Amino acid sequence: MTSSCPHLKLYDPEFHRDHHAAYEKMRAEHGPVIPVELEPGVQGWLVIDYATIMAWCRDERTFSRDARRWRDWREGRVPDDAAVMGMMKPRPNALFSDGEAHRRVRRAMTDAFARFDSARIAADAREMAGGLIDAFCARGEADLVAEYANPLPLLVMNRLFGMDEAAGRRFFTALRDMWDGVDAERANQEIETVLSDLVGRKRAQPGEDITSLLMQHRAGLTDEEVIQHLVLMIGAGSEPSACLLSNAVRVMLTDRRLGDDLAGARTAIPDAIDQVMWTAPPVTNYPVMYPTQDIALPGGAVIREGSPILLGFAAANRVVADEYRDRLEDAPNRAHLAWGVGPHRCPAKEMATAIATTGIEVLLSRLPRLRLAVPADELAWRLSPFGHALTRLPVAFDPQSPEQEGTTWQPSDSKPDTSTTKPQSSEKQGQSSLSSFLARLLRGR
Ligand code: HEM
Repeated sequence: MTSSCPHLKLYDPEFHRDHHAAYEKMRAEHGPVIPVELEPGVQGWLVIDYATIMAWCRDERTFSRDARRWRDWREGRVPDDAAVMGMMKPRPNALFSDGEAHRRVRRAMTDAFARFDSARIAADAREMAGGLIDAFCARGEADLVAEYANPLPLLVMNRLFGMDEAAGRRFFTALRDMWDGVDAERANQEIETVLSDLVGRKRAQPGEDITSLLMQHRAGLTDEEVIQHLVLMIGAGSEPSACLLSNAVRVMLTDRRLGDDLAGARTAIPDAIDQVMWTAPPVTNYPVMYPTQDIALPGGAVIREGSPILLGFAAANRVVADEYRDRLEDAPNRAHLAWGVGPHRCPAKEMATAIATTGIEVLLSRLPRLRLAVPADELAWRLSPFGHALTRLPVAFDPQSPEQEGTTWQPSDSKPDTSTTKPQSSEKQGQSSLSSFLARLLRGR
């Protein structure tokens, strides 16, 4: 690639105005793999073709996930404080490893996930969703991104990891500070401290949770590896799950075929989820692979060994979705690439689907006459080279009383007044208080 090569600028607001038109223009000029700029001065490639993604993701010998191979960074042309480093810098976890080293830690994660079936995840998600809705249902309006879609997956994962309420509060506060860049270094340190305390507690008293299962796995993960993979799961899981949930709600609220009786349209939820995964997948251009040798492209360009190649799931899906539009509208299928493909494909697909499906179900059954509070074309999307997310989803509905009294949203950080509540188990009490704490925290972002 030469410096005169016209890269598609993934950070340019113009690109985000209509990213599919931009991919098509580049496809016509360059074919299935296009040159991109991730931020000014950081260059790479984006694969936007379904068959090429399938083939390259399965070829571990030629395409490595190990970011230590990233030549421009290794040779000092990309600074350590580049904005993309958060997503691209090498980390000792499954997503950045290859071969047997990858299989060992991945097996520990998939074996742990296998202990929690979709029904169990759905039951947890239903309980957490109820607590979150209680916090805003009396108002008759809400921002479903900040108050619902963002906190719900975090709360479900918090319980799965086996964290108690106090640890959850510290963890969520640090996570929020890290996302907002508020003393990010200290926040990062705090996350590691909370997780390391969690590992210490689970060593003394294991439970039926992901942390204990990872620690007990025959792969023999070190404490540090357990912590790194908890961080990976939160990083890889919370944001995409939130995007899927909010985006599928948007699809349902704008799909005229469903009419006004959304509560009766539950059977449409899986279709809305499939539609989002085909047409606006949460992970658009990520993860990144590094070729272990130079790759000659059909048009004559060469991808140099160690160049970052992003996986363009959104662009690749769109071409197939357009080609089979009629068939997919009648019977949406799951042949999209939104969960990835090959050895690194998402190991938590069932869990993420259960969280999104349950989240939408509870929302529709609790909030009568749920509707968008702004015209659909005024909804804003966050500009990121890697993902596709609504910034807000303002909705209105008929105001409702909370199901659990004492959990309504309070403007201060004080604990909810539980003096009038009916007795709850201490776990439930902690959980609903944690829900409202997290909702307040994220709403204040
Ligand atoms: C809608 C929600 C989600 C979407 C769209 C999604 C999508 C993806 C994608 C595209 C990949 C990369 C696949 C590849 O490299 O080929 C991935 C990997 C991964 N995801 Fe998910 N994910 C979601 C939710 C979750 C959740 C809830 C968790 C954990 C609790 C999770 C954990 C992971 C992990 C650990 C990996 C790395 C696997 C590996 O490298 O072997 N994801 N996901």
